[in-house]
Amino acid sequence: MSFDGYQCIACSTTQATDFGGFVCPSCGGNLDISYDYDAVASSIDNDFSNGPNDLFRYAPLLPLQQPRSPFPLRVGGTPLYPVRDAATSTGMQQLYLKDDTLNPSASLKDRASAVAIGRALDIGADVVSAASTGNAGSSLACLAAATGLQAVIFVPADAPLAKLTQMLAFGARVLAVRGNYDDAYDLCLAASEEFGWFNRSTGYNAFTREGKKTCSYEIWQDLGEQVPDRVVVSTGDGNTLSGIWKGWCDLQAVGLIDRLPKVDCAQSEASAAISETVRRIRATGQSTIDWSSVVVDEVSASTVADSIAVDRPRDGLAAVKAVLQSGGEVVTIPDEEILAAIPEVAQACGVFPEPAAAAPWAGVKQMIRDGRIASDERVVCVVSGSGLKDVTNAGTVIGEPQVIEPFLEAVRSYLEKPTS
Ligand SMILES: Cc1ncc(COP(=O)(O)O)c(C=O)c1O
Ligand SMILES: [Zn+2]
Repeated sequence: MSFDGYQCIACSTTQATDFGGFVCPSCGGNLDISYDYDAVASSIDNDFSNGPNDLFRYAPLLPLQQPRSPFPLRVGGTPLYPVRDAATSTGMQQLYLKDDTLNPSASLKDRASAVAIGRALDIGADVVSAASTGNAGSSLACLAAATGLQAVIFVPADAPLAKLTQMLAFGARVLAVRGNYDDAYDLCLAASEEFGWFNRSTGYNAFTREGKKTCSYEIWQDLGEQVPDRVVVSTGDGNTLSGIWKGWCDLQAVGLIDRLPKVDCAQSEASAAISETVRRIRATGQSTIDWSSVVVDEVSASTVADSIAVDRPRDGLAAVKAVLQSGGEVVTIPDEEILAAIPEVAQACGVFPEPAAAAPWAGVKQMIRDGRIASDERVVCVVSGSGLKDVTNAGTVIGEPQVIEPFLEAVRSYLEKPTS
């Protein structure tokens, strides 16, 4: 194992691998897992192209003691699709979709849950907990069921029905907290400390980022070991974005790539704490930043994209750092454009995104319109969750079926009607 410790994202203090806490004991910041990259470089063969078609093929770059392959469910190994006729639908000449709806619980969160569960198994935990807007919880419930662990999930009481249904079907204990995600998060933290559960909550648990970073390894492999110009990531807490950035940095650190993509942050304009922080820092023109002094903005979020509705981003600093270090854009999108992107993605590509997962597509269109990206850049949009998780919001933009009598004549008169 090349996992060689932890480093605080804010103050850079390091901890050894046997550190038993979750956050930095000096400043309370989130931790980043570090590796002996020289050891990884000498242990990998065939550029990871061998091994199982899941994220455990990247075991040398995962912080797990026991090999977790074969894992009972296939997590990762999702397809990268070139968008057919992208110029017409978006103005981009080369646009790709990373279809992470094809994970076991139908979101990218399974990557994080798989590695967090690997860690729970390594340390002998039998109860795993998480606060969730919906997907992290349904994912943890799913993978806990597959590995025989008990999951306890804290959700805001208004979490979408499909996600709650998934959690319950997978046998998790689900606590619907009267309050928002931030209330659920704080309660999960207190309860996990009190009852000794392994808390997978986003940001707080450094192992989640390690799962999410594998998305970048796969994009690189699927592009024929090429680096795209940009990866556009739907962002709430910021852990997905910081994970995707870390994946590219890892590949560079082990000598597999020699340049890095820009990582763009796509948010609802009604939940844009990370974007606002990036803009504020960029406006100062500072070239050197003391990360320990950066305070990430808080907002009062209210967006239809429930997965990215976050007042206080729980991995905000890591995401702000990732966008600034990569030179990426922040793009904040009105909810109407996020919703409109759902059928656009579905009809252009045959991939059905939930609102949050449609945000990168809407973000690309906005950036093209504003001249912030060039049409010949090679761009990947991460489709992070399935549209089946929130058919209510999709239903507001997709029209209704035509109800007809069971006769051929009815079909004929339907076909003769002008289409709107
Ligand atoms: C479908 C989907 N997209 C994007 C995100 C954003 O990830 P993060 O909160 O780590 O920024 C989430 C988080 O729940 C999600 O479920
Ligand atoms: Zn610290």
